[in-house]
Amino acid sequence: TTVLGIEGTAWNLSAAIVDEDDVIAEVTETYRPATGGIHPREAAQHHAMYASDVIERLLNEFREKGHHPQDIDAIAFSQGPGLGACLRTVATSARALAMSLDVPMVGVNHCIAHIEIGRWKTPATDPVVLYVSGGNSQVLAHRAGKYRIFGETLDIGIGNALDKFARSAGLSHPGGPKVEAYAKEATGYVKMPYVVKGMDFSFSGLSTAAKDALSNNSLEDVCYSFQENAFAMLVEVTERALAHTGKSEVLLAGGVGANMRLREMLDVMCDDRGARFYVPERRFMGDNGAMIAYTGLLMFKSGTTTPIENSHVDPSFRPDTVDVTWIADKHQ
Ligand code: ATP
Ligand code: FE2
Repeated sequence: TTVLGIEGTAWNLSAAIVDEDDVIAEVTETYRPATGGIHPREAAQHHAMYASDVIERLLNEFREKGHHPQDIDAIAFSQGPGLGACLRTVATSARALAMSLDVPMVGVNHCIAHIEIGRWKTPATDPVVLYVSGGNSQVLAHRAGKYRIFGETLDIGIGNALDKFARSAGLSHPGGPKVEAYAKEATGYVKMPYVVKGMDFSFSGLSTAAKDALSNNSLEDVCYSFQENAFAMLVEVTERALAHTGKSEVLLAGGVGANMRLREMLDVMCDDRGARFYVPERRFMGDNGAMIAYTGLLMFKSGTTTPIENSHVDPSFRPDTVDVTWIADKHQ
């Protein structure tokens, strides 16, 4: 089975073709804001401008590897969650492509795609997933036919919180890697909010507190303290999800997963609990076309396709509303 998938929920437009064994071809065009953060309309314009070019290059790469567009069985696309204007651009391309190749579409939940590529590209089989990116922060795990959300952010994603703080400190977008670099040079800890409510966490107050702390602390110390608090909150909820579900694997997903301090803290926690900790290769952590194509392949093979009349996008698409038809569930 061969599936072409298109991702474009935010700043990254990426399309890939996969089969059961591997990623056959992938082409990505990234929108980079000239100033400040992501402007949704500009990002959507970027995607619209590059969509046909990306698909054409992808199909050329596919042909060069000895395949033929007629080998493609389905077109998968990121149906949500994400920025509405970006999602609509991607869905429009997917419809056009599905019609021209005369194959079905598969609407894919972006959060689930992060999980599935991790299960594909690491040895993880049934993990508790910590998905941390710009727009999303969730702890998920499979139970009774769904990917349940055990905990999530009550306001903004951890990546956006880092980026927002970094901007206020005069650092350019994306801020996450810069905060990580400054944190390494810290000499002290600055007290900051630690907000876990039940199984959920909040980052907005922390981001503001970090900004305020800059007036009488070094950037290095503030970056360090921000990370220590934010990551400890994420690790705490991940650990409680492990305990609650009785699972023995943790999978890290999303762009913030590039952070070595976060990995270290998760690694220590997993070690303490006798759980295994998995991190996919960097290219499969942030938003990528391969994850949409591969999840589309799993869905397609288990009989799930998306008729055109149901192919409208959903900017707040919740992963726990999707029937996970591709995993046999012993508890059902
Ligand atoms: P989504 O659509 O899932 O919200 P996204 O558009 O935010 O994804 P990702 O590539 O998953 O895209 O994540 C980007 C985020 O990751 C940015 O907020 C960026 O600052 C953050 N990030 C990247 N590298 C690091 C790092 N080393 N440490 C902390 N944060 C990082
Ligand atoms: Fe993402």
